[in-house]
Amino acid sequence: MTPRPVLIAPSILSADLARLQDEIDTIEQHADWLQIDVMDGHFVPNLSFGAPVIRCLKTKLLLDVHLMVTNPADRIDECLAAGAKHITFHAEAVGSERDRNVLIARIREGGATAGIAVNPKTGIDAIDDVVGALDLVLVMSVEPGFGGQEFLPEVLEKVRLLRKRSPGLMIQMDGGINEKNARLCVEAGANNLVAGHCIFSAKDRARAITTLRNVCA
Ligand code: DX5
Repeated sequence: MTPRPVLIAPSILSADLARLQDEIDTIEQHADWLQIDVMDGHFVPNLSFGAPVIRCLKTKLLLDVHLMVTNPADRIDECLAAGAKHITFHAEAVGSERDRNVLIARIREGGATAGIAVNPKTGIDAIDDVVGALDLVLVMSVEPGFGGQEFLPEVLEKVRLLRKRSPGLMIQMDGGINEKNARLCVEAGANNLVAGHCIFSAKDRARAITTLRNVCA
């Protein structure tokens, strides 16, 4: 059974970055979290933004930083100082249980919640060592790096397995999520949905977010 409520986390990657604060203002009253995709051009082929941008954002939304970077340990302090209240790093970037636990502890000591992300090809067993110590697991439904990609339905089985093993965990999904597949994600067990293109390509962002909530209800 998926814990409720389902949180909606628009991703600014798909926003008009030349008017980023205005774009955030259009979703401020309707979303739950705001996801910031930090990309280093190495762990993923794209380069995006980091703490200098995060610290400029004015929002009451919970700042959710998704670190798609090879060395997440180097980014934690600056993201915390910039206002991050949730930080997710990738299992593929931090292999050892010890290093993962060190990162989780640092994030928590900085007053944020901690998550780990798994790419579409990474199995849930790859995070068995820390899943009990986490606040959130992010199951990617696209290969990370770019917004606007097609949703990969094969990851839903991973979500079902994770929900079965961890009934109280916050399970976030990210990538290609829209009004057509959001319900599938929640029925599989996700209770936190990241959406970039589906929200920021819409003229009426409030309506886009409400539609996601309604299809998941
Ligand atoms: C991929 C990014 C995207 C983004 C959401 O690396 O993480 O998934 O947040 O983008 P959409 O919803 O446009 O796929």
